[in-house]
Amino acid sequence: MNTFIGVDLGTSAMKLMLVGENGEILSSCSEEYPVSYPRPGWSEQNPEDWYKALERGIPLLLSGHNPADVKAIGIGGQMHGLVALDKNDLVIRPCILWNDGRTEAETEFLNTAIGKQRLSSFTANIAFAGFTAPKILWMKNNEPENFARIAKIMLPKDYLVYRLSGVHSSDYSDASGTLLLDVENKRWSEEMCRICSVEKSWLPKLYESCECVGTLQSFPALPELHGIKVIAGAGDNAAAAIGNGTVRDGDCNISLGTSGTVFISQDRFSVDADNSLHSFCHATGGYHLMGCILSAASCNAWWIKTLGSSDYDGEVAGAEKYLGKNDVFFLPYLMGERSPHNDIHAKGAFIGIHPYTTRCQLSLSILEGVTFALRDCVEVAKKSGLAVSSARICGGGAKSSLWRGLIADIIGVPVEIPAYAGGPAYGAAILCMIACGVYRDTLQASDALLRVSETVLPDKNLTERYNEKYNIFTRLYPALKEVSHLF
Ligand code: XUL
Repeated sequence: MNTFIGVDLGTSAMKLMLVGENGEILSSCSEEYPVSYPRPGWSEQNPEDWYKALERGIPLLLSGHNPADVKAIGIGGQMHGLVALDKNDLVIRPCILWNDGRTEAETEFLNTAIGKQRLSSFTANIAFAGFTAPKILWMKNNEPENFARIAKIMLPKDYLVYRLSGVHSSDYSDASGTLLLDVENKRWSEEMCRICSVEKSWLPKLYESCECVGTLQSFPALPELHGIKVIAGAGDNAAAAIGNGTVRDGDCNISLGTSGTVFISQDRFSVDADNSLHSFCHATGGYHLMGCILSAASCNAWWIKTLGSSDYDGEVAGAEKYLGKNDVFFLPYLMGERSPHNDIHAKGAFIGIHPYTTRCQLSLSILEGVTFALRDCVEVAKKSGLAVSSARICGGGAKSSLWRGLIADIIGVPVEIPAYAGGPAYGAAILCMIACGVYRDTLQASDALLRVSETVLPDKNLTERYNEKYNIFTRLYPALKEVSHLF
């Protein structure tokens, strides 16, 4: 039987999946690596740690399975990170991650001195602190010796594709988040390269996500894999969307990972009125609009750890009695915020604590606060005329039945739970199958493979109560904005 390896290069861990030709998940495993926060608001990772996770993970994934059956490997990866390589293809400095906020000055320069309108006309997007282009400018301004050594710039998953295949490549979905891609026309933007002092030779060749960029050249951890196809892969959100069938015009996927995203698949290119949503290429070959909040399931992980607990479900046991009437609000801006506020100084907060507030209410407020922040993104989409009539969900947070219900009640739409909740790794495996001719395209693969195992319907009464709560939530960030900028 032919098998395919899908990898999700996440922020806290790498998830690996072995998938059979009929879409069955044959095995899966996960390998963790650290994130370093060298200064407040900064976040970095060592690309070598990702490669080591791949070296540990693949033999584990394949134990009990025949490596000779594996036909291809594909990676869906955390987006926007800057991996800079020197002329010998060695990593110059740790990767600056998607949720790093150090580029305030460079983001400001791009959005004001160059101007949002021009940026949008070159790339379909404006600058956000986590995007790759402001990071390149930051290196130029703050680490001139490192900047002078750059010979290649790569996105995180593209670095692993390079280590496996020897090819410098990227795919359109991930390249969209660099702010160097002319998204509509799917080519690097010459204007943006000039503005950011990027030489054309630094940029990788662009592929569609399911295209094969080369073959696996050297993998000492499992030499039997030599020669299998290495595909271009996708940004993690596009890969997750492929993984749960968010492939048709208007389909919506909500991801509850370290970040939280609202991803709306689009057949045709479009940009919302004030660029609040990212306008990116999709791994289907089409496009998507996306809102991204920087801290989603990571808020819950932080809270549970802070409580000294590890019992996620236990902490919200009995929360049903507070649904729609919790008087504690949580603002989930632990790393500042991207969509829709674009404010690296936004702060996390609990508001509304009383002497009778319970631990369970605080835990519930975390899930509610993250969901309200996702609703902010849905509201921007609605204002731009996009109807979100149902959503699929993925990511670690999607395992919680309480959270699934909150998404349905707070966003006010039916939430579909896919039978194979594989996220980006599963999507990357589907892209491998397309590269190997098992399916013609992502639509055919989605029709063949995806089953909805459960649909969670919104509860009318709770939706009404949460509408009132949401109206209060929307007033909290503006009320705290000024003071949040003081520290
Ligand atoms: C999307 C984004 C995050 C990362 C997390 O724009 O920044 O979802 O891709 O992995």
